[in-house]
Amino acid sequence: MNQEDDATEGVYDATHGGPEGAWDDSDDAEATRRDAGDAESSRASRGWWDRNADEYQSEHGAFLGDDRFVWGPEGLDEAEAALLGPADGLHGKDVLEIGAGAAQCSRWLAARGARPVALDLSHRMLQHALRIGEGDLPLVQADAGALPFRDGSFDLACSAYGAVPFVADPVKVMREVHRVLRPGGRWVFSVTHPIRWAFPDEPGPEGLSVSASYFDRTPYVEQDETGRAVYVEHHRTVGDRVRDVVAAGFRLLDLVEPEWPAWNAQEWGGWSPLRGNLIPGTAVFVCERD
Ligand SMILES: C[S@@+](CC[C@H](N)C(=O)[O-])C[C@H]1O[C@@H](n2cnc3c(N)ncnc32)[C@H](O)[C@@H]1O
Repeated sequence: MNQEDDATEGVYDATHGGPEGAWDDSDDAEATRRDAGDAESSRASRGWWDRNADEYQSEHGAFLGDDRFVWGPEGLDEAEAALLGPADGLHGKDVLEIGAGAAQCSRWLAARGARPVALDLSHRMLQHALRIGEGDLPLVQADAGALPFRDGSFDLACSAYGAVPFVADPVKVMREVHRVLRPGGRWVFSVTHPIRWAFPDEPGPEGLSVSASYFDRTPYVEQDETGRAVYVEHHRTVGDRVRDVVAAGFRLLDLVEPEWPAWNAQEWGGWSPLRGNLIPGTAVFVCERD
């Protein structure tokens, strides 16, 4: 897919014409740590993922597979982990995937007889879902903090590194997920393991020495020459994330820290076999709505 492709058919847009990636994510964006609120973070994410969707999919698409459900760079596969419950129990379940990207996980769920809806803020990411699946799934463009669904619409919700690491107000997202889930529904999401924030984001030995305070929640921001954020990531400690899910009314059933498997020799940004064998890279929160 190239940037000229502009298929919109098959994507329901619930962003109400919000700001698109209107400004340039130039290579000379400055990396800093500073506050970034909800609106600024959302706008930056939408622009960044629109501009970088092609590169992301060409770089990671083979590892992700078109219809696999991978929780993160370690390669933990839902087919083995069954964090959403046994695969044979997925049949007929309404599932919301948040920050779905090209909807690989949703495609895996659909193959098990579930009825997934793939939601993402980035139109370009959803175009990749169309490229792979040719309209095989419902695709919704929306912000995870304002889900365009009725209360109690889904049996399950999931997210592999989608939305949660990028939002300023994660409790708002947790509450929205809680609202659209039916009682007893499970919500499973993966994020960068919070310990990673204390280390440089480098795959080699330089990424093995603590360089920042784990307790510093100041967001990581890349900004253009006018000071506008073009990329934002938000840090929460492990305790913060637990409090976020509990504040939204969930019970935390498990916190999975996938170990780096021997078969996985590939690097993904700052994730690497070297670091993966020493410190966790991903945290997967398994939550349930009462
Ligand atoms: C690291 S990618 C993960 C995509 C996919 N889950 C995967 O494993 O390849 C993060 C995704 O989250 C989406 N995202 C970021 N902020 C979001 C938000 N506020 N609401 C919905 N999606 C968001 C991005 O557009 C992007 O597709």
